Amino acid sequence: MPKIKVDGQELEVAPGRKLLDVLEEHGTHVPHFCWHPGLKPHGNCRMCLVKVNNSRKLEVSCMYPCTDNLEVTTKGPEIEAARKTVMEFLLINHPLDCPICDKAGECMLQDHTYKYRHGLSRFHEDKVIKETKDLGPTVRIWGNRCISCTRCIRFTDDVVGTGELSLVNRGDHGMADVHPDVPLDNPMSLNVVDICPVGALIDKSFLFQARVWFTERIETTCTSCSRGCNVTATMHKGEVKRLQPRRNDDVNGFWMCDAGRLDIEWLKSPARLRTARGGAKDVADQLRSAAGRVGIILSTSATLEEMFLAKQLATAVNGRIGFVSLDQGTRWVSKSGFAIETDKTANRRGAATLFGKNLGFEDVTAGIHSGDLTHLVVINAIPNLAWPEDIRDATKKVSWLAVADVLESDLSTRAAVVIPSAAWAEKDGTIVNRDGRVQRLRRLHDAPGAAVSDASWLQEVLVHLGARKTVVSAEGVFREAFPGMDYGKVGNMGSALPAIATDVPANTVQK
Ligand code: FES
Repeated sequence: MPKIKVDGQELEVAPGRKLLDVLEEHGTHVPHFCWHPGLKPHGNCRMCLVKVNNSRKLEVSCMYPCTDNLEVTTKGPEIEAARKTVMEFLLINHPLDCPICDKAGECMLQDHTYKYRHGLSRFHEDKVIKETKDLGPTVRIWGNRCISCTRCIRFTDDVVGTGELSLVNRGDHGMADVHPDVPLDNPMSLNVVDICPVGALIDKSFLFQARVWFTERIETTCTSCSRGCNVTATMHKGEVKRLQPRRNDDVNGFWMCDAGRLDIEWLKSPARLRTARGGAKDVADQLRSAAGRVGIILSTSATLEEMFLAKQLATAVNGRIGFVSLDQGTRWVSKSGFAIETDKTANRRGAATLFGKNLGFEDVTAGIHSGDLTHLVVINAIPNLAWPEDIRDATKKVSWLAVADVLESDLSTRAAVVIPSAAWAEKDGTIVNRDGRVQRLRRLHDAPGAAVSDASWLQEVLVHLGARKTVVSAEGVFREAFPGMDYGKVGNMGSALPAIATDVPANTVQK
């Protein structure tokens, strides 16, 4: 292992690693633009200059290999002066757009300008004016702001493999652009906005939505497919304004897909169920009277806590439980191996852990068609689910139907009891991704109207039935389901799924 010295401190590094990689990993921040830990280094912005013992000139640290006995200096007057020169060069044609730029507040150029600025521009010529235009359905470019770092180009070339972007023109006329008639339109296109170090590439869905210094950022998990990408939600005035990927090398690396990122509009849809018809007591009374004749259909997007409570309910009323899922499209894999799953539900693996491999609903619908089951509770967290005909038919045959859902449907229209459910962004809970990693959902904002989390109304039903003593938090339910675990142990990055409590504690209800 080569040994290097960074500002006098000795480090051992794997052979062949690039210097900036190592410096960032060890907490020595070196200003940079074109380097990104998820992309191949390119060495074009020259901002990451450092001094090394075996070169008389300053070296570009993102391209410099770590070799034995390398001595690196990252601070000092010569280095600061070089960085200031690079900044002056980059700012020659960059407009002073910060007051109207969406990136303001999270812009690397803005941040570095504070530290490495000259104060006054010595440039008296006319600035080069470049285009502002759509690059595709999701991304817009402000050409004037582009500093030609090529991060976006390397992303489409090396990560996605679609290669829509390239650097057009040269020198101060250069900017990232699409090939003629080939728009930036791939399933991961919006990642270029995250990695753009300036405000050149802008997410059209977030354009002019909020100044980032007025927003709050909350770490949670995407629920749009079974991969469970780690994300950060940008919150403004009680709304989710955008989702951005959060690095987790065991799940999604640095990236997420556009479909998951943009799957937030329905949270404020007019079709959200907001008003309850009946409540937990009505459900408890009906199920008590129909014990042994109860079916429960639950979506595989329910949280682990909700599944655990639904299992308690099924035990309490001696009912049958089944699942509804959603599979769509074909599995898509990028050039670098990032996959978008066909399982569009968040917690099928969690359901399999709690209920075994048989996750169909046929046992429940068959019981309804044969007349064995007369009461049905449907609990769904999948938005705009196209209900299978068999379930639709079954809901028409039962003598009593309760529906807990996020959006209105023909099932909720005909149900005797309707409970508006809190969506994934409105509740705490855990989900298990396809690889068996348990990850947290965090409550980001209030649920609309009378909507409540399924974990809370299910507990109320169980309390009315006498099968639970009291209603506890989602974390309390999680601790019951997984003894020895809590949300702290799951953490922000998730953890391997622990063993389930073998005995689901619930008393069978006496008629
Ligand atoms: Fe090293 Fe750009 S980060 S040259």
